[in-house]
Amino acid sequence: MSDRFSFTLNATDGQARTGVIHTPRGEIRTPAFMPVGTAATVKAMLPESVRETGADILLGNTYHLMLRPGAERIDRLGGLHRFMNWDRPILTDSGGFQVMSLGPLRKLTEEGVTFASHIDGSKHHLTPERSMEIQRLLGSDIVMCFDECPALPASDEDVAKSMRMSMRWAQRSRDAFGDRPGHALFGIMQGGVTRELREESAEALKAIGFDGYAIGGLAVGEGQEAMFRTLDYAPGFLPQDKPRYLMGVGKPDDIVGAVQRGVDMMDCVLPSRSGRTGQAWTRRGQINIKNARHQDDPRPLDETCTCPACRSYSRAYLHHVFRAGEMISGMLLTWHNLHYYQDLMAGLRAAIAEGRLDAFVADFHAARAEGDI
Ligand code: GUN
Ligand code: ZN
Repeated sequence: MSDRFSFTLNATDGQARTGVIHTPRGEIRTPAFMPVGTAATVKAMLPESVRETGADILLGNTYHLMLRPGAERIDRLGGLHRFMNWDRPILTDSGGFQVMSLGPLRKLTEEGVTFASHIDGSKHHLTPERSMEIQRLLGSDIVMCFDECPALPASDEDVAKSMRMSMRWAQRSRDAFGDRPGHALFGIMQGGVTRELREESAEALKAIGFDGYAIGGLAVGEGQEAMFRTLDYAPGFLPQDKPRYLMGVGKPDDIVGAVQRGVDMMDCVLPSRSGRTGQAWTRRGQINIKNARHQDDPRPLDETCTCPACRSYSRAYLHHVFRAGEMISGMLLTWHNLHYYQDLMAGLRAAIAEGRLDAFVADFHAARAEGDI
């Protein structure tokens, strides 16, 4: 096992790519979906169960962990991997994006962001330098630059100003990160849905030099069509030989469209969060298990799925435990959703490797068009 971080591209099909990211903590098969473990847990799942769904890497959050239980505490306890009992790769987001969603509780300057904790109102400060320090204390394998992500719609002028500050923060992140063999630092492209700004951002990041490149600032209210239009060109501005990560995406059809456009990694709370609200994602689309039509249905959610929820439980049971507020409801639906997402990624990887992505995508849309029957 190499102690270095590297990316091997194995095959392409159109713009889509499949490959492997090598890290000292194991391989990440791409395109990869990263389940979100914001508070040092993928909610309702044991880490070994998350692994069983096929996940190679989890996402953690600087913002949440710095507030509770604190980065220094996690460091003293042996780092995030040991703390949460996940010994494979972890990518951590840098905190800027999560602070942004606090709205009036924050103040932004060139130096960084000052904000009040959503937990107890206490005051905190995040800068590129402190974000790099926190992600080092956590023991993150893939560290994200500290950036700012404007909500869309916004004027080109505001998006440009914000993007240029994020690029100065990217340089400060790079300087503060230093040289850490086996750990990777990813830059984050901004620029909204404006081609010239995306290109300017990509050029700035490439001049600094990163181990991977994220596409940030999408799935923030612009809609799928505008996101896909941006993804028609944005990945092409980034180096071919480095992983490309689309942040915070998405629904299954967003993922398929992003992979077709050359994205290698994604993360989203959707499969885990919606499992806790009674939503299941299947190859036939979305199922609301709360719906009364399931209450006498002895069939599984999806007869072709091999997850524990589909192997051993009926829709009637899943409906009942959701209605009764039983914890197993969130556990089973989350497991199913994560399993479905990882099955989809495995299907995409195999299709790209075998040069039949178009047929795979046509089947994907056809099954959804049939609907849940
Ligand atoms: N998560 C989703 N979008 C973004 C983004 O633009 N920046 C960061 N840091 N995280 C994100
Ligand atoms: Zn299932």
